Amino acid sequence: MTSTDAAPETPRRGSFDSRKVFILAAIGSAVGLGNIWRFPYVAYENGGGSFLLPYLVALLTAGIPFLLFDYAVGHRNRGSAPLSFARLARPAESLGWWQVGICFMIGVYYAAVLAWALRYTIFATDQAWGEDPNAFFFEDFLQAGDVGVQADLVPGIIWPLVVIWLVVGGVLLLGVQRGIGNTAKVFIPVLVVAFLALVVQSLFLDGAAQGLQALFEPNWAALGDPLVWAAAYGQIFFSLSIGFGIMITYASYVGRRTDMTGSGLVVGLSNSGFELLAGIGVFAALGFMAEAQGAEVDAVVSDGVGLAFVAFPAIINEAPGGALLGVLFFGSLVIAGLTSLISVMEVVISAVRDKLESSRAVAATLVLVPAGLISLAFFSTTSGLYVLDIVDYFINRFGILLVAVVSMIVVAWVLRALPLLTRHLDQYGTPSVRGWWPVLIGGVAPVALVLVLGREFYVAVTTPYGDYPTWMLTVFGWLPVGILVALAVTISVAQFVRRAPALPPPPGSVEARTESEVESE
Ligand code: ALA
Repeated sequence: MTSTDAAPETPRRGSFDSRKVFILAAIGSAVGLGNIWRFPYVAYENGGGSFLLPYLVALLTAGIPFLLFDYAVGHRNRGSAPLSFARLARPAESLGWWQVGICFMIGVYYAAVLAWALRYTIFATDQAWGEDPNAFFFEDFLQAGDVGVQADLVPGIIWPLVVIWLVVGGVLLLGVQRGIGNTAKVFIPVLVVAFLALVVQSLFLDGAAQGLQALFEPNWAALGDPLVWAAAYGQIFFSLSIGFGIMITYASYVGRRTDMTGSGLVVGLSNSGFELLAGIGVFAALGFMAEAQGAEVDAVVSDGVGLAFVAFPAIINEAPGGALLGVLFFGSLVIAGLTSLISVMEVVISAVRDKLESSRAVAATLVLVPAGLISLAFFSTTSGLYVLDIVDYFINRFGILLVAVVSMIVVAWVLRALPLLTRHLDQYGTPSVRGWWPVLIGGVAPVALVLVLGREFYVAVTTPYGDYPTWMLTVFGWLPVGILVALAVTISVAQFVRRAPALPPPPGSVEARTESEVESE
């Protein structure tokens, strides 16, 4: 093959110039906030060194297989997520719209975190957060009010948020190769260099070894806890950008004869490698802080917002070369997050384009203007942090994981399309997926995810998340995840402008189809 094959039959949709650019764009999508601020804490909280076992099992039994599932669906059917599913079977289109809705929701809050990180990159140069980063972040920067909903705008968040949306809009208007591909070609090497520099600097800090010991010390007893396994599966899906249409969309822009299986292995292992690197960098820095405070690592560890915007500024205040460490850390968050946000919004734009047969400019405007406005309305206000926290919790569990399990079951057992997708992956891909992949996608992964989701549902109902009032969890959690399903079905009822050809009914005829038949559609 020919890594330079473009998708000749659909020049209007755009395509990546080469397999290398596709892989860089897919890594850019996968590596994001999930790797840098979520993985280190998830690993630490769930057994440290011993977490690597459930993590590897989740990666090999669900992560990489589902990545290949997304690739197969998008690469074979050459469409956005809804169009690709519609080409498997018309009613399956709603699965794609469900994923599009999830992306829209993720995009509007993900952009807010990037806006904070952008400002903190500037703050880091002179440690503008002062002696008390905790008070600075919550009171001065976010001006977070009481838990609830207030509509007071926070000017300091508005302009970086506008900048983030303008950058995303600019890249996406340029198109697949010129926008997404070229951005990945520049951003990924810069990210790798910046993050490696951060890790090296962290490893030279006093106390780094103590931090690494805390991260990697195994707690074998944790392996008996189902929640540890649930955490591993949950981490993999968000982190690898699978289950929300991104990899379907990107795969649809790749030349027909490209080895998708090998590409999937490269992307999956690169993402996990970056995750481990982030764990090392973050925990080395936390070890430094623990030593500086004469405390245990346990006392200084945190995740997400607390890790990035409270713990890291405190580390930067104390560390030699703190300004550099700060710019590297927040700059890496911005770069890693931007390439992920671009991929998230491309899912929506590409779906609208296919559905309306519109130009990229029209679809991008229809998607990004409302997304930007909603993002500003909800997340540049004094209650933005709470809404973000709730949406993130619900969308990860009852959005991404749920649609992933439903789509695997539908494609494997209702449409019986796995033989077709296996053959597609094997046509140009190595290693062969025959035998093991259908078993994982049709059996092991859905069973594991159903167990994980059952557990998560039980926890969400019996121990409502955070200290939020029930009405907030309902309005910003349960309601949106329900509305996404209803919207998905409703939108899919309207026909694509150009009718999406459906496959003949399963099972025999699905298997009987050949690539050339699909090409002739
Ligand atoms: N995969 C992206 C992340 O980890 C969405 O942030």
